[in-house]
Amino acid sequence: MPKPIKKAVLPVAGLGTRFLPVTKSVPKELLPIVDTPLVQYAIDEARAAGIEEFIFVNGRSKGAIEDYFDHAWELQSLLKERGKDSELEALTALMPGPGKTAFIRQQEPLGLGHAVWCAKSYIGDEPFAVMLVDDLVVSDTPCLAQMIEVYNETGGNVVAVENVPREHTNRYGVLDIGETRGNRVEVKGLVEKPAPEDAPSTLSIIGRYILLPEVMSHLDAHETGAGGEIQLTDAMAKMLGDKPFHGLQFEGIRYDCGSKLGFLHANIALAMARPEFTDGLLPLLKDAVAKAEKP
Ligand code: G1P
Repeated sequence: MPKPIKKAVLPVAGLGTRFLPVTKSVPKELLPIVDTPLVQYAIDEARAAGIEEFIFVNGRSKGAIEDYFDHAWELQSLLKERGKDSELEALTALMPGPGKTAFIRQQEPLGLGHAVWCAKSYIGDEPFAVMLVDDLVVSDTPCLAQMIEVYNETGGNVVAVENVPREHTNRYGVLDIGETRGNRVEVKGLVEKPAPEDAPSTLSIIGRYILLPEVMSHLDAHETGAGGEIQLTDAMAKMLGDKPFHGLQFEGIRYDCGSKLGFLHANIALAMARPEFTDGLLPLLKDAVAKAEKP
């Protein structure tokens, strides 16, 4: 059995320019899907996959993320005074345990590869997960748990992938694929944000990775790639041939909550899936649709 995956790196320093104006003062990772911030969904998914240590690579002016994972004493004592014990317990259960979160700064926005590299000394020689909070995955088995199963069998890198329309390949890291077995593909090559006509396939990486620690030494070089940024995809490509590398067409639905449309979709879908909202929301949605369709 390869070394277990115990740590996740969450790059959260992005300025959220696709989500203005709210991201002027609210970190996009704290935007709610129904009533729960995006970042909480990622933490829940990771904890359900057995990961208990979280390294947030944060940036200036986004301290609210750190506060979110701390006790809120005034609120908690108020809930206690008012006898709202179940609300209090539910709040505390959401937090990783004491000493299980670390917040480090990415001082400059130099790219995803650079953000991951900033966590190097916290990772040491252990394999780890990377989670991009914008991608919310709803599935029966947590997406990361599905990936860890592949890692446990292969001992190599694993990325979660899905087919995207060819005209969207320039938004993703895209796989050049070898042998396919069920929902698992062997990775022969990786390209960051290729133009549709150059993309080796349409199988694109979503924000979930299981990586061997060797990726950090490739990131040490600080080489820039697509968009002039230090790309994680390029560092991963350097590991091809050395270690097994697979793409997993995960079971589940991924919502791209970094885009306003994806965020709205996730809010509607997850609200409709909550029994306390289904009956109330349905007529409201029908009414909104009818109004939008009126000539
Ligand atoms: C990043 C990665 C890209 C990946 C994508 C998934 O791009 O660089 O390879 O496919 O996340 O969301 P970004 O969305 O940060 O531009």
